Amino acid sequence: MAALGDQSEEQAMAAQPKPQNRPISNIVIVVAMQTEALPIVNRFQLTEDPDTPFPQGVPWVRYQGTYKDLNISLIWPGKDPTLGVDSVGTISSALVTYAAIQALQPDLIINAGTAGGFKAKGASIGDVFIVSDCAFHDRRIPIPVFDLYGVGLRKAFVAPNLVKELNLKVGKLSTGDSLDMTQQDESSIIANDATVKDMEGAAIAYVSDLLKVPAIFVKAVTDIIDGDKPTAEEFLQNLAAVTTALDLAVEQVINFINGKCESEL
Ligand code: ADE
Repeated sequence: MAALGDQSEEQAMAAQPKPQNRPISNIVIVVAMQTEALPIVNRFQLTEDPDTPFPQGVPWVRYQGTYKDLNISLIWPGKDPTLGVDSVGTISSALVTYAAIQALQPDLIINAGTAGGFKAKGASIGDVFIVSDCAFHDRRIPIPVFDLYGVGLRKAFVAPNLVKELNLKVGKLSTGDSLDMTQQDESSIIANDATVKDMEGAAIAYVSDLLKVPAIFVKAVTDIIDGDKPTAEEFLQNLAAVTTALDLAVEQVINFINGKCESEL
């Protein structure tokens, strides 16, 4: 019997996710806020699925349609049933990503959304980044190895040809469940070497890694974290305009993906 950790090469290969050798045909786009989602829904003429594959009573919304050779579903976690605001953050995004992968078996996940950006790392309002790495900045567990689990660093699917062809900026993403930033968060974000900060990415990366579905993260900058404006004010002020940049970037990304295999991205 093979000892633990003594896998044959074949076993090790079998454990790796197999890049599909056929063109990508089924894409799930996960978007946290309605304001971010609707321009993308309209761009691809997606329609709301009245009969979603999700449990009865959850607020999760699926828009779907075909665009070129692609089957596209956009999943929005919907409004909080009690408070009526968008269900932003890591819990909702992980749940909908899990449910969407289980139900729809996508070839690829795209998480599209807005983010705060660090001007010290080259971010400006309206910039769109493709994320190379995702990590958390608010899961502090100061015990050996649990500390690394808390940070939860995962590589995103960077798609080097896509980045080159579309001339998009690439940066690291740090995720936490707050729009603002404590000093401890800031230290962790710096340790994560992040250029952009959001409230969903690393949670979606966790699920995509768990279920072995590649995930691309497209993040458009609404506010400058190391600037002098209050974050919530700057975010709300720029949200509508920046979603236009996000929507255009998602269209470019989808057009690039159409007709290509994972290995060509
Ligand atoms: N989304 C947009 N701006 C953000 C910020 N500063 N922090 C977290 N998520 C964001």
